[in-house]
Amino acid sequence: MKKTIFLIASTLFIFLSVSSQTKDVIIRVHPEQGTQPISKHIYGHFAEHLGSCIYGGLWVGENSSIPNTKGYRTDVLEALKKLQIPNLRWPGGCFADEYHWMDGIGPKENRPKMVNNNWGGTVEDNSFGTHEFLNLCELLDCEPYISGNVGSGTVEEMAKWVEYMTSEGDSPMANLRRKNGRDKAWKVKYFGVGNESWGCGGDMLPEYYADLFRRYGVYCRNYDGNKLFKIASGASDYDYNWTEVLMKKAGTKMNGLSLHYYTVKGWNGSKGSATDFSPDDYYWTVGKCLEIEEVIQKHMAIMDKYDKEKKVGLMVDEWGTWWDVEPGTNPGFLYQQNTLRDAFVAALSLNVFNKYGDRIQMANIAQIVNVLQSVILTKGDKMVLTPTYYIFDMYKVHQDATYLPMDILSDTKEIRGRNIPLVNASASQKNGITHITLANIDLDAERNVSVDFSNLNITSVSGEILTANTINDYNTFEKPNAVKPQPFQGATIVNGKLNIKLPAKSIVVLAIK
Ligand code: AHR
Repeated sequence: MKKTIFLIASTLFIFLSVSSQTKDVIIRVHPEQGTQPISKHIYGHFAEHLGSCIYGGLWVGENSSIPNTKGYRTDVLEALKKLQIPNLRWPGGCFADEYHWMDGIGPKENRPKMVNNNWGGTVEDNSFGTHEFLNLCELLDCEPYISGNVGSGTVEEMAKWVEYMTSEGDSPMANLRRKNGRDKAWKVKYFGVGNESWGCGGDMLPEYYADLFRRYGVYCRNYDGNKLFKIASGASDYDYNWTEVLMKKAGTKMNGLSLHYYTVKGWNGSKGSATDFSPDDYYWTVGKCLEIEEVIQKHMAIMDKYDKEKKVGLMVDEWGTWWDVEPGTNPGFLYQQNTLRDAFVAALSLNVFNKYGDRIQMANIAQIVNVLQSVILTKGDKMVLTPTYYIFDMYKVHQDATYLPMDILSDTKEIRGRNIPLVNASASQKNGITHITLANIDLDAERNVSVDFSNLNITSVSGEILTANTINDYNTFEKPNAVKPQPFQGATIVNGKLNIKLPAKSIVVLAIK
C-alpha cells in the first residue's frame, strides 16, 4: 500500500517537475529496513611522509616555538580530536614501500637519514617514526593503520616490525622496544601488506603480488592477543583484473582489499587549479566523484564472486581530490587549497560509502594535513580548517550508526554522460536519533525537499548548513572563517514530514527526534 502511494507521489512529482519546472524533491527514508551498520572506519584519514603533512603539519618537535604537546602541534591535535577520527594510515602511500622502520626508532640523533625519492627528493631525518606515530594515535584515540614495505623491504623486516609493535613477550623486538622507552606493546589492528604494488609499490603484476601477499602475510603474526587485520594492496580505479586475480589467488588469506580512487582529471598534464575553476569544471568534478559508486559496485561484484559471505572488507584507503599544486609551491609536496567544491566531493563520497557498509569497512581521505584534500592546512604557527574539515565534522554522526535506505526523486543533470540527481543524501540512526545529510549540487537553484520517514514519529529537527557565496570560496590564513557551518533554520515538520528549503550549493546535516 505504502509503495503504491509512493508510486503515485512519484508520478505526480514527475508531472509537476516537467510541467512547471519546479525544483521539488521527494525523499522517502525506510527506517524499518535499517539493518546495516556504517563502520566508523569509513571516516578514516591518511598521513604520509610527503610535503608538510608530518613535519610542520602534525609534528614540530618538542623544542619548537610552535605550541606543541610532546612534539605534536597542539592546534592540529585539538582540531583532530573534535573530528573523532577513527583511524590513521601511515607512513604512506608510496613512501611506505621505501620506508625502513628501524631507521625511525631509538635516539633521534642516531637515526639515519634517507632521501624521500617519491616526494620532492627531500631529506627525511626519521625523527618521526613508529613511537611518534603510535603515540599520536593514542593521543587521538584512534586505531593505527600501518602500511608495511613489500616493494623494497624483506619479509624479515616486516615480521620484526609487527613483533616490535605488538609483542608483550621476552622477545628480541619487544625488548628493543622496551630499550627505546616503551614497555607495553601497542595494539595494532590494521596492517597493509604493501601499497599500490602495481605501481610505486614495486610495479608488480597481480599474480606475482598475490603470491607475495600470501608469503609476507604468513610472517605477520598475532602476538599476545593482538589480532592483525591484513589488508592486501588493491586496485586503482578501473583495474578490475587486479581485484579478480587478488581475490582468486589470495582472497581467503586477507581481511581487507584496498581500492584507490582519486577525483582527478587524468594523471598527465594539468589537473586544474584548486581554486580557479568554472561551473563546468565543478559539475565535471561532481560527475567524476560520483562515478566512484559504479567503480565500487564493479569491484564488489568481483569480490562477491569469491567471497559470498562478505568476509573481506573493501578498504577505500585513498580517495579525494587531486589538483595542481598551489602556484609557487614544490610540485612534489602536493599542497593544494580546498574550496566548497572539495566539500562537495567529501560529502558525496561519504554518502556513497555509507550505503555499502556490508562490504566497505574502511575509507581514508588523502591526506590529513597539507597534502591533497586536507582537512587542515598549516603555515608556520597558523592553522586553518578547510571546508572538507567541516564535512567530516558534520558527518561524524553517521559513525557506527545504522544505515537507513532511502529513495530519492530529484531532477537530474547530465554530467559525463550520466544523469546525476541534483540532490544527494544519506540517513542513519543511532541512540534514538535519526540523522540525514543532504547536498544540493545545483549551483543556482534552491530545492524544496520533502522527507517522509515512513513509520517514524518525528517531533523535532535541528541542524547545520555549509555553503558560501561562491563554489570557489575557501578559507585562508588571513580569512579562516570564509566557509564555515552555520545553524540551519530551513527545516520544519509539517504533517509528520520534514520540509526542507535546501539552498543552492549547500550541504546540510539534520538531527531528527
Ligand atoms: O596520496 C598520494 C599518493 O597517491 C600516495 O602516496 C600513493 O599511494 C598514491 O598514488
